[in-house]
Amino acid sequence: MGTRGREIVGMDVDRVVELLNKAFCDEWLAYHQYWLGAKVVKGPTKDNVIAELVQHAADELRHADMVANRIIQLGGTPITEPKKWYDSTNCGYEAPDDPYVQALLEQNIQGEQCAISVYHAMMQETKDKDPVTYELALQIMQDEVEHEEDLQALLEDLELMVTRGMK
Ligand SMILES: [Fe+2]
Ligand SMILES: [Fe+2]
Repeated sequence: MGTRGREIVGMDVDRVVELLNKAFCDEWLAYHQYWLGAKVVKGPTKDNVIAELVQHAADELRHADMVANRIIQLGGTPITEPKKWYDSTNCGYEAPDDPYVQALLEQNIQGEQCAISVYHAMMQETKDKDPVTYELALQIMQDEVEHEEDLQALLEDLELMVTRGMK
C-alpha cells in the first residue's frame, strides 16, 4: 500500500476498491469466456474470429492485472476465491454452449457493451476524486470500445457473407 497515494484519494477508498474488485471479477470471467470461445467456435469466418478472440482474451487478462495492481496500491486485496467472482461480477459469464460464430459474437458483444458501461460509470464516480483510478478506467474503456467494434465488424462480415455469398 502506498500511504501518500492513498491519502490523495478524495473519496472513500473502500468504495474505490469495491468498484475495482467487481471489475476484477468481470475481467477474469471475460478472459475465460474468450479463451474458451476461441477453442470451441465453429462456422464460417471462424479463423478470423479465433484470431480476434485470442487477442481479446490476452487483453482481458492484462486488464485483470492492471486492476489488481491498483487494488493493491490502495491497500485492498483482489478477490482471492474464483467462486466469489460470480457474486461480485457486473457483467456475468456467458458460457459458450452454442459454438456457432454468430452466437459467440453476439454473446461477446453484449459483454463488451457491459464492460464499456462499467468503466464509464467508474470514471464518473472517480472523476476529480481519484485521478489514478480514473485514468486506469479510461485506458481500459478505450480497449473495450475497440473490442466492441472489432466484434461488430466480424459479425457484419459474417452477415454479408451469408446474405450476399461473399468471401
Ligand atoms: Fe477488459
Ligand atoms: Fe473487452
